[in-house]
Amino acid sequence: MVDGPRGRSAGLVLAIFATVFIATGRGSAAVTRELENGEACAFPIDFNGKLEHDCVSWNNEEWCQDSTGLWGKCKPSSGGVAMASAKGTGVVINEVLARGSKGQEDFVELFNTGDETVDLTGWTLRDSQKKSDDDDDEEEDKGPFVFGAEGCADSAAIAPGAHLLLTRDENCSFSFGLGKKKDEVVLSDADGNVVDQISWKKGEALKGISMGRLPNGQGAFQKSEPTPGEANGQVSVEKLKGELPDGADVTDSCCKKIKKMGFESNLPVIVIDTKCQEVKDEPKIRTELCTCSDELDYADWAGVEIRGSSSARDHKKKGMAVKLWNATGHNQEFSLLGMPKDEDWVLYGPETDRSIGLRNFLAYNISRSMDRYATRTKFVEVFLQDECNLRTRGGELSMKDYHGVYLLEEKIKRHNKRVDICKHNATKDITGGYIFKHDNDNIDNGDVVFPIKKRFDSKDPMPMVMIYPKGTKEELKAETNFLEEYLNGFERALKSKDFADPERGYEKFIEVDTFIDNFLAVEITKNPDSYRGSTYMRKDCGKKVEMGPMWDYNEAFGMCCGYPIVGYMNAGESGPGTSGGSAISENGWRFNICEDPGRCVRDPQDGISHWFVRLWEDPAYRKKVADRWQELRKGPLSNDQVNANFDEAMTELRPAAIRNYNRWKEEIGSAHFRSTKDQWEHEAKKLRDWTIGRMEWMDTELAKQQFYTHSRG
Ligand SMILES: *[C@@H]1O[C@H](CO)[C@@H](O)[C@H](O)[C@H]1NC(C)=O
Ligand SMILES: *[C@@H]1O[C@H](CO)[C@@H](O)[C@H](O)[C@H]1NC(C)=O
Ligand SMILES: *[C@@H]1O[C@H](CO)[C@@H](O)[C@H](O)[C@H]1NC(C)=O
Ligand SMILES: *[C@@H]1O[C@H](CO)[C@@H](O)[C@H](O)[C@H]1NC(C)=O
Repeated sequence: MVDGPRGRSAGLVLAIFATVFIATGRGSAAVTRELENGEACAFPIDFNGKLEHDCVSWNNEEWCQDSTGLWGKCKPSSGGVAMASAKGTGVVINEVLARGSKGQEDFVELFNTGDETVDLTGWTLRDSQKKSDDDDDEEEDKGPFVFGAEGCADSAAIAPGAHLLLTRDENCSFSFGLGKKKDEVVLSDADGNVVDQISWKKGEALKGISMGRLPNGQGAFQKSEPTPGEANGQVSVEKLKGELPDGADVTDSCCKKIKKMGFESNLPVIVIDTKCQEVKDEPKIRTELCTCSDELDYADWAGVEIRGSSSARDHKKKGMAVKLWNATGHNQEFSLLGMPKDEDWVLYGPETDRSIGLRNFLAYNISRSMDRYATRTKFVEVFLQDECNLRTRGGELSMKDYHGVYLLEEKIKRHNKRVDICKHNATKDITGGYIFKHDNDNIDNGDVVFPIKKRFDSKDPMPMVMIYPKGTKEELKAETNFLEEYLNGFERALKSKDFADPERGYEKFIEVDTFIDNFLAVEITKNPDSYRGSTYMRKDCGKKVEMGPMWDYNEAFGMCCGYPIVGYMNAGESGPGTSGGSAISENGWRFNICEDPGRCVRDPQDGISHWFVRLWEDPAYRKKVADRWQELRKGPLSNDQVNANFDEAMTELRPAAIRNYNRWKEEIGSAHFRSTKDQWEHEAKKLRDWTIGRMEWMDTELAKQQFYTHSRG
């Protein structure tokens, strides 16, 4: 059998073959051991490269490790055998091999820890595979395997201390497909009561390594050496490392640390140990970073530095850029929290957004709903161990290190799973493989900047920053020249009286559909920073310029009082101005506010918004925008769908958001709420209602453009 029958062959009939192995007594059942201070030993422990399940002898004394890995002397053994709490009969799932390697078959093994033979007739074994995000090949449920059903297992009885091994055969249909995806196998008795179950995460079902109770018949499931029909055995750290990708948390050390502290979250947790250094703004410091999640976890090194806009850098809860490193400081790709593997990640720390990250989350979610790439995100809780008080705290993780909720984001870069454009090679093709942005607030030292003639007027150059390819100004001379000329051509076309002509006008330069989707997404958010900051664009080989991906929406969605939206000086309340709406109002377009003389005094340029102002003058463009809007509102951006997405995200975030409020009370600022829960609830619902109201305003406005018919040319 090969990897995951479920993933491969929907029609495959799995069958079962049962044999009874009589175990050679219960000698393998180990004792539960404690440290002298009463803490439990965390077995298995890695001793000289071998995993041990009892205290190890060293210097005539017995030692074990606690769950943080600290060694201590063991309390003398009481000699008592602690069997698994026998649920009624003492029959447990003992071992599961989900991905056999060469010459090995997948199997499920039961074990009877009790004192009596158990008749399993009518018992069931069911695979209730949990749907994972990218599960595109779900198999129909064939129902559970029923013990003692006709023609199936010869024997449906299991003697005390015996193993019952279930493998495949052609006769019995058997609906657990032991796949490499997230999965679960449940054993129930004849009355339907769940007797035992095992679940494993995506990436945890390794080739040739089983999940077994250690010690045999007891304990939690751990990665083990496949021992079908026999007592379970330990697997060496070396073998595990051989099967897991570099950087993987081989011994689940991160989850153990968090569990030991008594911390629980329904979100993934990231622990960053800075080794007594302070995280700063360049260069990256060398930290240890680990994750505890439902995915294959990471535990290795990472370079970490502060990131974010100049204002965000003053916040106490810092945004961080993370680069995964191996022990020798080389970049290391990893599929962090199950996202496509890469070494570059962003931990966005929403301090000013009182919805605690829902703004960025929602903006990217909206963009993805349009089938555009937007950075993938995961809400996480972060522990930042950045103080050197190892002496007083013994280096243990504690709630003092709790740093609140972050949104783990993909960094924008060229990648077949991120911005999927051609690899740049100037000799072969100068027309493509570019990512660039306009970002008036955030030009860093070393950025390669090239100017565009805004409105084809050389007095007002508009800086663009090259994101990809990377290089120095000199190295990228040909590239910046090409893009400069191209974008100036676009500006000239926009300015010309033939701007709407499909041959000579703007369409020659841009992939209009991407501009329309970006326009709609930005307008839903009414982001003050859009058009003028963090405005990413790309150009694929042989294609025209495309708008996106979206980035940085923490001050969007009616949050008072981002510059330059009308009313920003007056708690967002004044207005209405040309666009017909203030900063916090659901009404009024974002793209044309700076057309109103005197509104955008501090930054009259407003980045690239003049592109959209000009496009809007073309009735055919407006009609396309309106048509696309209708299509989206009937599907992925209907009120019902957006509300459902909100509710799902709120449910997931709620407990962590409240912990975050409690951690950062002073920074967030309290209002008159009975509790932090009420405050967060209020903020999140306000955001949801604003978004729905905003989309309804757009319905009304865009309906006016719907009936345009006009033949051009
Ligand atoms: C499957 O069923 C056939 C017919 O009843 C029987 O001859 C065969 O031995 C069975 N195979 C197994 C592996 O039990
Ligand atoms: C780190 O990665 C580099 C480059 O892939 C490799 O040469 C080196 O051996 C790795 N170091 C460790 C400790 O794995
Ligand atoms: C949007 O967010 C919801 C809630 O988390 C999620 O179920 C949905 O898959 C997301 N949609 C997209 C297109 O990312
Ligand atoms: C770039 O393209 C040229 C011409 O096709 C080729 O000879 C060269 O190897 C390419 N360079 C890289 C780095 O791929």
